[in-house]
Amino acid sequence: MKIPSAGTPVSLLDLRKAFLSLKGPEDLQNALCHRHGVTWCGLTGSGTSAIYAVLRTFKRRSDRTEVVLPAYTAPSLILPIRKAGLTPVLSEVSPKTLNSDATELLDRVGPNTLAVVPVHMFGLPTDLPVLIRCLNDREVFTLEDAASAMGTQLASREVGAICDVGVFSFNRGKNLSTYTGGAILSSREDLVTDLEAAIGEYPTPDFVLRLKIRAFAVALSLIVRPLGYTLLHPIAERLKYKELHTDFHIQAYTPFQARLGLSLLNKLERFSQKRLANGRFLQDAFSNIDGIRLPQVLETGAPAYNQFPVLLPDEQTRSAVHRAILETGLEATRLYPDPVHRIYPDIWNGQGPDPYPNATTVSQRLLLIPTHPLVPRSALERAVDAVERTLK
Ligand SMILES: Cc1ncc(COP(=O)(O)O)c(C=O)c1O
Repeated sequence: MKIPSAGTPVSLLDLRKAFLSLKGPEDLQNALCHRHGVTWCGLTGSGTSAIYAVLRTFKRRSDRTEVVLPAYTAPSLILPIRKAGLTPVLSEVSPKTLNSDATELLDRVGPNTLAVVPVHMFGLPTDLPVLIRCLNDREVFTLEDAASAMGTQLASREVGAICDVGVFSFNRGKNLSTYTGGAILSSREDLVTDLEAAIGEYPTPDFVLRLKIRAFAVALSLIVRPLGYTLLHPIAERLKYKELHTDFHIQAYTPFQARLGLSLLNKLERFSQKRLANGRFLQDAFSNIDGIRLPQVLETGAPAYNQFPVLLPDEQTRSAVHRAILETGLEATRLYPDPVHRIYPDIWNGQGPDPYPNATTVSQRLLLIPTHPLVPRSALERAVDAVERTLK
């Protein structure tokens, strides 16, 4: 059996509710607010367009133009920053936590910093309390990118609800997937009117696109299951993102997706527990194997692992371990082949010493192992055996 790298279990009942129930997007908005303890939530067609709306809202309140973000993260994060007329400023990542630590982000904050974007990579909570405390009174907004981390907790609080504004993605690889989609969360009363206005301008997808979204959501519910993935693997291959995005769609979330999202949100607790348990299993199993470096999780963190990240000693070993896991049927991935500064030549022209060597190292040595709720324990055991055999 082949098991995909990502998967939200969508049942027939979830689909039935999405097609037939009378609930509106406000039901999902209210449920997200309630779950995360915030006062406002807005929905968008993608995480990227959610970030764009937030940045435009920040920009209306300040003349500052710089946005600080980690050097190893989703490269597409650069797009909404640029589209909003702002300048990305990268900060180094830590090979221990695989996130940018608060001190690294704070080092990049200057008089022209509009916002800092801490990212919870792979569902691993990033260090927020120190960051928030240090930015207090500095007129710098914090935008928490929890795109891949719905269900993760930090000091018993849900991530995505800790900074001024938080963002989630509901794309096909995320902890809660409605094929595409995004959400913005905030309790900052002074921002929500503008946030609401910004996403209110997003056009509703036309009839054909709405139909396509429904069809893809149904197809995805079959493809993420081991049997579906084994049979339909060639089709799934064609649906995967293979090229760097150079732009993003700006559109509204559809009521169908909101109904599906609501149904899935009711099961998120269970999904998150499974992700945490799978991650802990891998953490324990790999801790006895030499040559594999495991992520350091913040003491107060409970990660809903989007995937479980490990670092191998070099690129060659990573390729060997990757191949060995793939042979077991489990789709481990390497994620982004390059850090952000090596993708955009106007950020770094490749001359002189690498300004973000840790980010480069992470991109060369990182391997991600699926932890989603459809991964059976036996598949993880086979993967651990494969890693052990390869590293022996
Ligand atoms: C950390 C991070 N931020 C933002 C996004 C953008 O989300 P979307 O694909 O819904 O636009 C992604 C998507 O992969 C991501 O991983």
